[in-house]
Amino acid sequence: MSTFYVKDTGVDEVGAGSETKPFQTAAYAIYTDASAKVLVYKEDEETKGFVEISSSALKKAKKGAEGLKKKAEKAKLAAEQQAARDAEETAKRLEAMKIEIKEDASLPEAKRSKIKDLSLDSGRVRVSGWIHRLRLHKDKAFLVIRDGTGFLQAVLSGDLANAYQTQTLTLESTVTLYGTIEKLPENKTAAGGIEIVVDFYKVVGLAPSGDDAFSNKIQENADPSLLLDQRHLALRGETLAGVMKVRAAFLRAIRRVYDEESLTEVTPPCMVQTQVEGGSTLFKLDYYGEEAYLTQSSQLYLETCLPALGDVYCIQESFRAEKSHTRRHLSEYTHIEAELAFLTFDDLLSHIERVITKTVQYTLEDPIAGPIIKQLNPDFQPPTLPFKRLAYADAITWLREHGIKNEEDKEFEFGDDIAEAAERKMTDTIGVPILLTRFPAEIKSFYMKRCSDDRRVTESVDVLMPTVGEITGGSMRSEGLDELIEGFKRENIKDYEKAYYWFIDQRKYGTSPHGGYGLGTERLLAWLCNRFTVRDCSLYPRFSGRCKP
Ligand code: 4AD
Repeated sequence: MSTFYVKDTGVDEVGAGSETKPFQTAAYAIYTDASAKVLVYKEDEETKGFVEISSSALKKAKKGAEGLKKKAEKAKLAAEQQAARDAEETAKRLEAMKIEIKEDASLPEAKRSKIKDLSLDSGRVRVSGWIHRLRLHKDKAFLVIRDGTGFLQAVLSGDLANAYQTQTLTLESTVTLYGTIEKLPENKTAAGGIEIVVDFYKVVGLAPSGDDAFSNKIQENADPSLLLDQRHLALRGETLAGVMKVRAAFLRAIRRVYDEESLTEVTPPCMVQTQVEGGSTLFKLDYYGEEAYLTQSSQLYLETCLPALGDVYCIQESFRAEKSHTRRHLSEYTHIEAELAFLTFDDLLSHIERVITKTVQYTLEDPIAGPIIKQLNPDFQPPTLPFKRLAYADAITWLREHGIKNEEDKEFEFGDDIAEAAERKMTDTIGVPILLTRFPAEIKSFYMKRCSDDRRVTESVDVLMPTVGEITGGSMRSEGLDELIEGFKRENIKDYEKAYYWFIDQRKYGTSPHGGYGLGTERLLAWLCNRFTVRDCSLYPRFSGRCKP
C-alpha cells in the first residue's frame, strides 16, 4: 500500500506525493491510488507535520477523485477524436496534394482574353485576374475574378475543385483560368450572364491567409483613416474602383467636348513663382535656392497661350495649402481649366454650362461609367440648359429672406463671402445647378474684370451644384493694364512688375477680351457619383495630415 503526502504548497502531478515533494490535494492522491494511505500537513498549536487524513476529509477527497477521473476520461476522448480528425484532414490533404492540376494537351489552344471581350462564341480562352470572391465546396469551387475590364464567374468541378491548390486559394490571389465560356445556369445571375467553366488553371501569386488575409486588412465600416492607410488595397473595392472608372470616362468626355469646342490642350508647369488665388494657400518649395511654389492654378499660363494657340485648356494638378478639413477640400486636386478669347461674359457662361452638360451626358452614355453612376447615384438628374443665373447681390437677398446667417452668425451683407455651409444650404434648397455671378471685386482675385454697369462687382461666376456647392469658378479677365495693376495693388501682391512681367505683357502685346474658369474634377465627381467627400473621388487623396501612401 502506498503512502501519499499532501500539503497546500505541493503539486498535483505524476511523480509527486512523497514527503519532500507532496501532492497539493488529497483528491489527487486518491485519484492516483484509491487504496493509498493519505497524510496531510497540519500546522496549529498542538501539531506541526503530516498526520493521517480525517475520515470526513477522506470522504470529500474520494468524491474529488471521482471528478478528476471523469475529467481525465473526457479529455482522453476529446484528444482521440481530435487525433482522428487530424488524421482525416492529413489524409484529405495528402489526397488533395496527389491531384495534379494538368492541362489536357488534347484541348484546343486557349486564346488570351480580357473579360470584357468574352462571349459564348469565344471558344477556349485563358483569362488572368484577381480573385474577387471565393466559395469552396467539395467537388465544386466558385470564383469571381476581376481583370479591370470586368468581373467573371468561374466554376471548377471535381478534381480541379478538390485539389490542394484550389482548397488553399485566397481572396486577391492572381490566377490564370483556362476554359470555355458558357451561359449561366437558369436562375443564376452574374455579370454578363456568362461564366467560365474551368478545365485548367495556374496560380500566379497566392495572397496571404490568416491574420494577413485581405479581408482582415480591409473591413467595411473601418475607421476612414485606417482605410486611407490601406488605400492601395481599398482601391480594389467595387465602389472606389467604380468611381475611378467614372473619373476616367469623365476626363475622356471632357476632352471630347473641348475638341468639339475647338480648344487646344496644353500642359503648363506645376512649379511656379507666381500666385493666382492668394498667398495664404501656397505650398512653398526651395527651387535651387530660389523661392518657388506648387501651382494653385494654371490660369495665367493659359492666358499666355491664347495669342499663340487660340482657345486652350489643361488638365493639371493644382495645390492648395489649406488646413481645411471640409468634405470638399483637398491639398492636391485635378484642376480642369480653360481660357477663351474674344468672347463676352454671356458667351463664357453659355460655354461653361454647355461643357458641363455635354460632358455629363457623354459620361452617362459611356458603357462602363454609365451603369456605375446608375448604381452609385440612382436618383441623379442630368443638368439641362440653361442653368439658373443668380447674381451675387440677389443671392444675398435670398439668404437674408431665408434666415441663413453668415460666418459670424449675423445677417448677410453685400460684400460678405458666402462660405461653404451657407452656399450649400442655398444650393440644396434651390435644388438645381446655379451660375452665381457678379461677385464684389474685394472678395475675388486680382485678375477679374469689373462690370461696366456696376464697378463694385466683377464679371465672375461660380457654378453651384446641389449636394456639393461650388464645382467651378471663373471670370472674364481685366483687359487693360491699369485695371490689372489696380488688382495687384488691391491684393497687395509685391514686386508684380518683376514677377508677373510675362503676364503683364499679355495686356501690352495685343490684349483681347477673354475669360476662363477652373473646374474641380473631384467635386464634380462627388456630385455625379453621390460621394460624401471629394476624398472618395481622388486616387490617393492629400489633405493636411495625409501625404501617404
Ligand atoms: O475657384 P478657384 O480657386 O479658381 C481658380 O483657381 C481659377 N484660377 C480658375 C480659372 O479661372 N482658371 O478654383 C476653381 C475650382 C473650384 O471651383 C473647385 O471646384 C476647385 O477648383 N477647387 C478645389 N477642389 C478641391 N480642393 C480644393 N482645395 C479646391 N480649391 C478649388
